[in-house]
Amino acid sequence: MIVVEKIRKEFGKNQVLKGISFNLKKGEFAVVLGSSGAGKSTLLRCLNGLCQPTSGKIVINDVEMNQKNLNKIRKRVGFIFQNINVVGNLTVMQNVLTGSLAGKSPWNIFFDREEKKKAIQAIEMVGLADKVNTRVDKLSGGQKQRVGIARVLVHNPEIILADEPVSSLDPVTGQGIMELLEHINQDLGTTVLCNLHQIEYAKQFAKRIFGIENGYIQFDKQVSEISDVDLKSIYGHSFNKQDRPKEIDDRNDSYSLQYDVI
Ligand SMILES: Nc1ncnc2c1ncn2[C@@H]1O[C@H](COP(=O)(O)OP(=O)(O)OP(=O)(O)O)[C@@H](O)[C@H]1O
Ligand SMILES: [Mg+2]
Repeated sequence: MIVVEKIRKEFGKNQVLKGISFNLKKGEFAVVLGSSGAGKSTLLRCLNGLCQPTSGKIVINDVEMNQKNLNKIRKRVGFIFQNINVVGNLTVMQNVLTGSLAGKSPWNIFFDREEKKKAIQAIEMVGLADKVNTRVDKLSGGQKQRVGIARVLVHNPEIILADEPVSSLDPVTGQGIMELLEHINQDLGTTVLCNLHQIEYAKQFAKRIFGIENGYIQFDKQVSEISDVDLKSIYGHSFNKQDRPKEIDDRNDSYSLQYDVI
């Protein structure tokens, strides 16, 4: 359903993607891992037409992506952002409705019964039924991300691209968001491709993991096949406690959570 063939992306002299190819079948749940700056967001943005590859081919459901069919393809491919992309001074319902009708003003539009019904269904699915008329700036980070997901769901997307959807959330809230994506994947059959920094979430939720480094896919494996060598190929150091330098343990960064899982 997604075919990516030899895509390259350059920003000036910066060669970010140097030839990425993979296929993703309908209903798969795959995660992209890679160090900061490896090109994970660039890859996802290319798949949604937010960014144009310098060369290469992207085919979504047998349709090759080009400038002309971009809007059509975008309706089938929902994008969930790292920096939660909702409008604070609108209610949950208004955010979700405006997500369903790109181009209309949120203040002066008519939504028919069917559109409202779809919005309510999406809001229920993300677990915010009791917050329909709450202003989004009164919600927690996790709840805001749920609104972002509901905005995507009203389109009935066949594919969801999620770019570090849990990076700004605490582990418990992040787990809830990952479970929601899993639920959408399993119950609706939506294909999910998700960028993550948390290896433990990747192992828990993905069936398949891509590792990106230096512009290339370093590995593309089923979760059960991922080894410490694979992770070393993208992060540059071992995740086995006895093998890794002490200064890495001393670092108090977002990777610290990941060390105990391998
Ligand atoms: N619009 C842009 N213009 C110029 N350079 C860009 C642009 N977007 C990304 N880059 C560059 O592309 C490279 C990859 O960035 P990208 O955001 O895809 O990495 P990432 O793997 O998502 O990193 P992170 O884990 O920090 O989110 C970086 O060197 C970045 O500076
Ligand atoms: Mg990124």
